[in-house]
This record gives sequence, C-alpha cells and structure tokens, in this order.
Amino acid sequence: MARVLSGVQPSGDPHVGNYLGAWMRWAREQEAEHLYCVVDLHAMTVRFDPALLRERTLDTAAWLLACGLDPDVCTLFVQSHVREHTEAAWVLACVASMGELGRMTHFKEKSQANDFTSAALFTYPVLQAADILLYHAEEVPVGDDQRQHVELTRDVAQRFNHRFGDTFTLPRATVPKVGARIMDLQNTDAKMSKSLESAGTIRLEEEESATRRKIMRSITDSGSEVRAAADKPGVTNLLELFAAVTGAEVADLEARYAGTGYGDFKRDLAEAVNGALRPVRERHAELRRDPAELEAILAKGADKARAVATSTMATIRERVGLLPSGA
Ligand code: TYM
Repeated sequence: MARVLSGVQPSGDPHVGNYLGAWMRWAREQEAEHLYCVVDLHAMTVRFDPALLRERTLDTAAWLLACGLDPDVCTLFVQSHVREHTEAAWVLACVASMGELGRMTHFKEKSQANDFTSAALFTYPVLQAADILLYHAEEVPVGDDQRQHVELTRDVAQRFNHRFGDTFTLPRATVPKVGARIMDLQNTDAKMSKSLESAGTIRLEEEESATRRKIMRSITDSGSEVRAAADKPGVTNLLELFAAVTGAEVADLEARYAGTGYGDFKRDLAEAVNGALRPVRERHAELRRDPAELEAILAKGADKARAVATSTMATIRERVGLLPSGA
C-alpha cells in the first residue's frame, strides 16, 4: 500500500477536470495512509479575497467529501492548519534553486497573466514540495498539469538527501489514463480551469441544464465523424471526457457513434456527465447545510496530519542543524 498525498487549491469553482483528473481517483483508491489537503496557502499566491478564501476552503472540502472521500478512512485537512508546511517550505527554499523555480510553467503562465506577481507565486512549488515530503508520500495522484511540480519535488528531495542525509522519500506523480487533461469546451488550447470564467468550463456547482447547454454548444471540428485524432482536438476532448466519466474505451465510443454525427453523441455525453455528477452535486448540497460538521471533520484531519508532520519536521530541523528550542 503506497503512501499518498495530493492537494487542491480553493481558488475558484471546481470543475469536471478536477473531478476526473484527480478527485474521482482519490475517492476510489483511498486508504488509511492517504492524505488529501485543501491548500489554502497556495490560493494566496495570486490576488485573493479573504472572505472568499474562507468560504471556498470550506466549500472545496465539502466537494471532496461529496466525491466520496471518507474521513474515517483517509485524512482530509486544510494546509494552513498544519504549520509545519510553511516551516518545511522555508528549509526547502534554501535547497531549491532560482533557476529551477523559474522554469515552472505554472509560474510563467500566472506571472504573465497578472499585473502583480507575488514572491510567493515564485516559491509556490517549494510549498507544494513541503506538502508532499512531510508525509513521505510515494505517490501523488494529480492531473497532467502537476507533473512538473512533482518532478521538482523529487529533485529538491534528492538534493536535500544528498546534502543532509537520507530524509525524504522520492515521490512520483500518478495521472489517470484518460481525463488527465480535460480541455476547455470553447478553447481546446486551454485546459479547463477554476480561475477562468468560461462557457467552456463545466462547473461542479451548476444546474444540469447549464452543463447540457455547454456540451451541446461545445466547439467541434470540421467533418462530422466522432473520432479522436490530432486534427480533431474538440471531438477528441469530448471523447476523452465521455471515456473518463463512464469508464468506456475511446475506441468503443468511436464505434458506437460511427455515422451518427455530433448531435446524438453530445446529447448522450451530457446525460453521462450529469448522471455521474448528480449524486456528487446532491451530497455537496447536503454537506453545505452543516458547516460546523465540516469544520469538525477538518479539525480531526489536521490532528492526524500534524502527528506525522511534526515528527518529520523534528528530523528536518535536526538534519539541517537548527538548535533545539528546548520548548
Ligand atoms: P489545482 O487546484 O489546480 O487542481 C487540483 C487537481 O485537479 C487537476 N486538474 C485537472 N485534471 C484534468 N483536467 C483539467 N483540466 C484539470 N485542472 C486541474 C490538477 O492536476 C490537480 O491534480 N498545485 C496544485 C495543488 C497542490 C498539490 C500539492 C497537488 C498543492 N500542494 C501537493 C499535489 C500534491 C494545484 O494547483 O492543483
């Protein structure tokens, strides 16, 4: 049984890409040694609103539970509740180089898109490395866009181990076979994203009619064949979505819709997506009615996570020569 950690930023409205790329798998594969984290500190690296941050942190936790995470099985917690994350991040920032951080796609994209670039946006991957390394995670289940951050975590861990003695487990990213990179339904050059307001984002929190409309109006490619191909990025994305949501093979879907055109295909896809999300949406609405219960679950999760994090942090402090405080 592998030790697992993964995280999600409470930075916007969660969408079907988050569900298919990450959360569905987290729920399906959860075990006692798996930790899932709402990374509120990461959501502060671009302009944010404090009231919204608070609200979204709780809401994101509710979505994770609605997707099927069971706090009696795995550990669900909020990153800022375990202070060792920021402490470890400082030490790791002393081992990471400016050069490798500057190469991160996430940093390049976000710093170009905003008028203000915080220093924390630059050190963002170091905090992510702390999230992972504090728990000795071997596997990090994520969508495709997070591979680079996990690679960096590995590099930093290796460098630390080399300089200060074997301390960290080297993690690896695990991405799903289909659904690792769901693209925006209106722009197949951009991945579906929490921070983009787009008619091409299927939000978890929306009416079924909105989801249906977005899928029916999604851009398709020239021709009318339902076929995955490099010159058909729109249809390929829809096929991928269909396969991820139903567990069917892309090839079988192509065979099923051979000669039918896009209309039937989209109608069935909308039904499949809404069908898969229906129980999740219902459960989320229920969970939101009891914020005190959610907070209690998160407090318990933080206690469990802290027990591991403090012990790793004690080792880190000792390895790098920080004087014990005696406290
Ligand atoms: P975040 O919050 O952007 O996304 C959460 C998870 O959803 C996946 N994902 C997608 N998968 C498929 N298609 C998409 N269009 C899509 N968009 C998002 C992401 O790959 C991710 O798995 N830096 C991380 C959060 C983080 C983290 C960690 C992850 C902080 N610490 C430690 C793993 C381990 C992020 O911003 O994810």
